[in-house]
Amino acid sequence: MTFAANTMNVPSARLPFATHHDGRFKGNHILSVSQFSLEDLAYIFDVAEEFRLIVRRIGIMDLLKGHVLATLFYEPSTRTSSSFIAAIQRLGGTVVPISEVRYSSVSKGESLPDTIRTLESYADVIVLRHHEVGAAALAAKYARKPIINAGDGIGEHPTQALLDLFTILQERGKIDGLIITMLGDLKNGRTVHSLAKLLSLFKVKINYVSPDALKMPADLKSLLQEKGVQQAEYSDLHPVLGDTDVLYVTRIQQERFEDPREYEHLKDSYVITPEVLQGAKSEMAIMHPLPRVGEISMDVDDDPRAAYFRQMEYGLYVRMALLALVLGKA
Ligand code: NCD
Repeated sequence: MTFAANTMNVPSARLPFATHHDGRFKGNHILSVSQFSLEDLAYIFDVAEEFRLIVRRIGIMDLLKGHVLATLFYEPSTRTSSSFIAAIQRLGGTVVPISEVRYSSVSKGESLPDTIRTLESYADVIVLRHHEVGAAALAAKYARKPIINAGDGIGEHPTQALLDLFTILQERGKIDGLIITMLGDLKNGRTVHSLAKLLSLFKVKINYVSPDALKMPADLKSLLQEKGVQQAEYSDLHPVLGDTDVLYVTRIQQERFEDPREYEHLKDSYVITPEVLQGAKSEMAIMHPLPRVGEISMDVDDDPRAAYFRQMEYGLYVRMALLALVLGKA
């Protein structure tokens, strides 16, 4: 996998196979996108691409036969939990799913470290989603098995960012040189936090479009500035839509608001409709981590630029790659 049409910017995107065959990812936690280099990304995406072809041809394999995944979700999830479950099953492994923590001992007051210690007695890898920033890092401190962060509050969602990047590559064929516009709740959206950090490894321009109250956090913008990423902020999509190569739409994160009236006031800030898209490039990719709650009209779904359903499928292959890699089997 190479990242750029002009590979000048990414001289070593394709590394010799052997560099990674020493089990670079084996036993590692996946906590933040900051842990990945360009070389790591190239390798993960090569493995994901291989799995994509195998799944399409054969459907299932036995690479992870005998391996068990535990999924522990303290917050709701459809895509992340089911794609990880499908990923381990398509690789021949099995799953212990805990998605209703209120029916587990968590509701009796069990601590996160103890719940992790329990699950790692039965499983080889744990996927964790939690409402607190830093929960995955805390779990990793106590765990002997790999922890995969599936979202920690408003912090990060690294596996989503990896699948988002994989989607951009599949849809646009490159990363360098693109103008990426992130729209919606940039303050509370963990997917945009991780994706912006990951994009800082590339030569991209990022536009942030959000209501004033929901801007991208200042520390994140400074981090990207230090890395030389061109960034610009707007409250209206109109001035940047025409130049945009990837429009990454997010929902206003209702569950993060203390005052429900503020959510009500902001929830319909942006709605992407076919009319809005009239000013966009014909090859622009429209992405969304989903779920959507009205910010992309269903009338957009048949537009060839709408990549958000394909994005979900790419997520399966990326998560298969991550499981195989941390278990040392890719
Ligand atoms: C996202 C999340 O949980 O952060 N969903 C997902 O994993 N696809 C986005 C969201 O909930 O808005």
